[in-house]
Amino acid sequence: MIYFVGAGPGDPELITVKGKNALEAADLVIYTGSLINEELLKYCRSDAELINSAGLDLVEMIDLMEKANNEGKYVVRLHTGDPSLYGAIGEQANILSQKDIPFENIPGVSSFLAAAASVKRQYTIPDGSQTVIITRIEGRTPVPEKEQLSKLAEHQASMVIFLSVSMIDNVVEELLQEYKPDTPIAVVEKASWPDERVVKGTLSNIAQLVKENQITKTALILVGEFLEKTGVSKLYSKDFEHEYRASK
Ligand SMILES: C[S@@+](CC[C@H](N)C(=O)[O-])C[C@H]1O[C@@H](n2cnc3c(N)ncnc32)[C@H](O)[C@@H]1O
Repeated sequence: MIYFVGAGPGDPELITVKGKNALEAADLVIYTGSLINEELLKYCRSDAELINSAGLDLVEMIDLMEKANNEGKYVVRLHTGDPSLYGAIGEQANILSQKDIPFENIPGVSSFLAAAASVKRQYTIPDGSQTVIITRIEGRTPVPEKEQLSKLAEHQASMVIFLSVSMIDNVVEELLQEYKPDTPIAVVEKASWPDERVVKGTLSNIAQLVKENQITKTALILVGEFLEKTGVSKLYSKDFEHEYRASK
C-alpha cells in the first residue's frame, strides 16, 4: 500500500496524528527533500529506507513504489504541507491506478494555514472578506489567462500567493491594478520553522522589504485587509440566537 502523506508546513508537531502513525509504520519513505523538515524523519523506524525524491524522475519514483508494494512493504510518499496544493500527487496517483497499486491520501496542514497562525490573523473576517484566494503568479509553469493575478485581485478577497516571492515586482505590479497602494501585505518565510521570518508592509514598499531581507523562496505572500482589520463575529454576540444558544 502507498500512502501519500502531508508533512505539514515544517514544524514536526504539525503533521497529523495519522500522518505520524504512517511514518512510524513505513518500510520505505520517499520524501520531498527540498521542502520537508528532515526532523520529521526521526519518526521513522531506524531500519526504514529513506529516499530523497529530489534526484528521481516520475518513472523512477513509480518503479520504487511498485517494487516495494509487490514486496508487501508499507510505503509513504511524504509531500510538504497538504499534498493537494501545488504538489504532483495527481500524476503519481494516475499511474498507480493504471497499475492497480492501492494508495490512500492523508492530508496535512498547508503552509497557508501555518502562515495565518504566524501573523496571528484569520483570513475570513466578519463584515469583511469571506473568501480566500489561493494562487500563484506565472513563472516557468503557466497559470490560466482567467486566473491572472490582476483579474483575481478584482475581488479584493483575502489572498495567499504561493511560489511567487522571487517575482515580487511582478506580483506588486499586477496587484496594483486593483488594490490601493496602502493595502497591507505580509511575506511569511518558512512558516512554523525555527527560522521563520515575517515581513509586513504595504503594496508600496513590500518589494523593497523582500529584497532587503533577501527572501527568495519558501515564502508566501499574504494580501488583504484581513492583515489589519478585525470585525466582531455575530457567533458570540448576546443578541444572535442560533441552534445552540437562545438570545439573552
Ligand atoms: C511546491 S509548493 C507546496 C505547497 C504545499 N503543498 C503546501 O500545502 O503548503 C511550495 C511552495 O509552498 C510555499 N511554502 C511551503 N512551505 C512553506 C512554509 N513553511 N512557509 C512559507 N511558505 C511555504 C512556498 O511558496 C513554496 O514555494
